[in-house]
This record gives sequence, structure tokens and C-alpha cells, in this order.
Amino acid sequence: MGSTIIGTGSYLPEKILTNADLEKMVDTSDEWIVTRTGIKERRICSENMSSSDLGVEAAKKAILDAGISADEIEMIICATITSDMPFPSTACIIQSKLGLDNIACFDISSACSGFIYGLELARSFTNNGCYRKILVIAAECMSRVTDYTDRSTCVLLGDGAAAAIVSHSGDTDGIIDSYLGSSGKYGNLLYIPAGGSKLPASHETVSNHLHFMKMEGSAVFKIAVNAMSSAIKKIFERNNIHAEDISLLIPHQANIRIIQGVARSMGVPMEKVFVNIEKYGNMSAASVGVALDEAVKAGRIHKGDLVCMVSFGAGLTWASNLIRWNKDD
Ligand code: COA
Repeated sequence: MGSTIIGTGSYLPEKILTNADLEKMVDTSDEWIVTRTGIKERRICSENMSSSDLGVEAAKKAILDAGISADEIEMIICATITSDMPFPSTACIIQSKLGLDNIACFDISSACSGFIYGLELARSFTNNGCYRKILVIAAECMSRVTDYTDRSTCVLLGDGAAAAIVSHSGDTDGIIDSYLGSSGKYGNLLYIPAGGSKLPASHETVSNHLHFMKMEGSAVFKIAVNAMSSAIKKIFERNNIHAEDISLLIPHQANIRIIQGVARSMGVPMEKVFVNIEKYGNMSAASVGVALDEAVKAGRIHKGDLVCMVSFGAGLTWASNLIRWNKDD
């Protein structure tokens, strides 16, 4: 009895927002952004697209990669903090756009940790065979909640989506274990103040930029390094794994200095760490999913490899997992 990833996909919008573009929008420089974050450019979705559209494109690629028919999917879990609208769920909207009906669909809100949370939910549902195939999607239009007058956040974020098909399998390889954590007391370090039941949209919330993401960057930075390192340690200890056993570490792509800090504290050399932050910036839940798909397609993951994914985000939340990759190259 087990659960395994049989297909992955990702979708990045075509439009590129470079550091040079941002230099014209806020008081910043390419040099500051690259040295402090590692980001060179990020993708921005077109006006007529929303998170579900990005998710659908990623899902179609994952379905193709898995070699299954869309009709075989029994559940859709969508991780997003930029849902198309408060309700219905983006998962239901994606279901309809994929032409599927009468299956379980729901969203999860775990911010940047959402893809790993989603994979763990899918593992729980498929492990005992109750569900055979689940589509996990992370889709984010972060540009829609970014204040392009705030230089401390607008240089960090981008849009994108990732998807994975999680299948019941007869073998214990695949998604071996996950560790999920959170600490709500830090919620005010990273949040969108308005637009929910606490502070509904009004002229005032709009004019005060309260529908955009707010962040205490340096406080989040310190907690991120500790929380991700501790999430990796926990999953290693629980499974009697050591840093040298890992073929690839796939961390959330928020800041290259956070990634380097985590790798250093875990004793994992940077050659074994997947990094694509320079191209996309932080795409919240989509970041680790896109990184997983790119790592597979770039030949950085082979059958039998032990992969560790780790993430961190608003909530605050954090998550790690261990995957013994068992899909043929
Ligand atoms: N361009 C130029 N200067 C900038 C800037 C920008 N885009 N953004 C901030 N600054 C300035 C600040 O105003 C500050 O100036 P001051 O010293 O005159 O006050 C200076 O740079 C240093 O700011 P600070 O916030 O201490 O920088 P930092 O080294 O911590 O880097 C972040 C800022 C946001 C890149 C970093 O804190 C970070 O990555 N935090 C975590 C982000 C994250 O992981 N978020 C999501 C979690 S999923």
C-alpha cells in the first residue's frame, strides 16, 4: 500500500517582469534585488487570466505526463491564496474547465506550504486505496495581490502554477512521509489585511492598499530558515535519513539567501539543491511544485532517487516531505 506521483506539470505565463522593469516602477536596483534575493525576473499573467486558468494548463500537462485520461481523476485539491473569487473553490472552477463532473474538489489555504500540504492530503486519501488518482494543483496569481508601489514586496513575487497526479500504488516507494507544521501566532508577519469577513472591501480598504500582501521581511526571513531546517530535520529523524542520502532538496523559492541558509544548516551541498528563483521569484504554493516539475524534466531526478521538498509561508506554515521517486525516466 502506498502513494506515488505518476505525473507532474507546470505552467508559467509568458509575460516577463524584469528587475529593469521594476527599476522604472519603484526606488530599487537590479543589483539590490539580485544580491538580496537572487531574483532576476518573474512571470505575470495576462489580464484575462486568473489562478484557475494557470492551474488548468499545469493540470493538462500533468495528466499527459501521467499517461492517464482526465476521467480517471477522482479528486482535485487546489492550493492557492489567490483564488479566482471567495467562492466557489478554484478546484471546482478547474474541474469545470477540465470538463470533469461529480468528483470531490476543494481548495486549501496554506500559502507557500500549500503544495506539500496538498500532496500529503492526496497521500492520505490514496494510501488505503479509497481514492485511486488525485490531481493536486498549486496555482497563484500573486501579481493580483502585489502592491507595485511597495518596493519591499513587489520585487519578490510572481505568477505560476504546478500540478501533480498522486496515485494509489502497491509499493511503499513514492511519497514516503510528510511533516506539516504551523504557528498562527506569527500570522501578522505576512498577510492580506482586507477582503475577508474581518475587513470587507470598501473605498477605504482600497485606497489604503489593504488588499495587497504585507510582510515583515526580516522577521519572516529568520523564522523561515529555522522552520525549514527544523522541518527537514524532523522528517529525516523520523525516517532515519541523513543529508547524504538525499539526491535532491527542493526548497521553497522565496529568497536565495534563505535557501543557502537552510542548505548550510542541513549540510546539503548547493549542487544537490534545486534553484530556479532567478526566473520566477516567489510564486507562493506554486514554487515548489514548479521546481519539482522542472527538476524532473531537466533530468535532475531519476527512478530510485530520494527527494526532499520543504516549504514555508504565511500562517505561518511549514512543511516537508520525502519522496522515493519511482516513475520511469
Ligand atoms: N530595493 C532597494 N532597497 C530596498 C528594497 C528594494 N526592493 N526593499 C527594501 N529595501 C531597503 C529597505 O528599505 C532597507 O533600507 P533602510 O536600511 O534604509 O531602512 C534596506 O533595504 C534593508 O531592508 P531589509 O528589509 O532589512 O532587507 P533584507 O536584507 O531583510 O531583505 C527581503 C528584504 C524582503 C528581501 C528579505 O527580508 C526576505 O527575503 N524576507 C523573507 C521573504 C519571504 O520569504 N517571504 C515569503 C515567505 S513565503
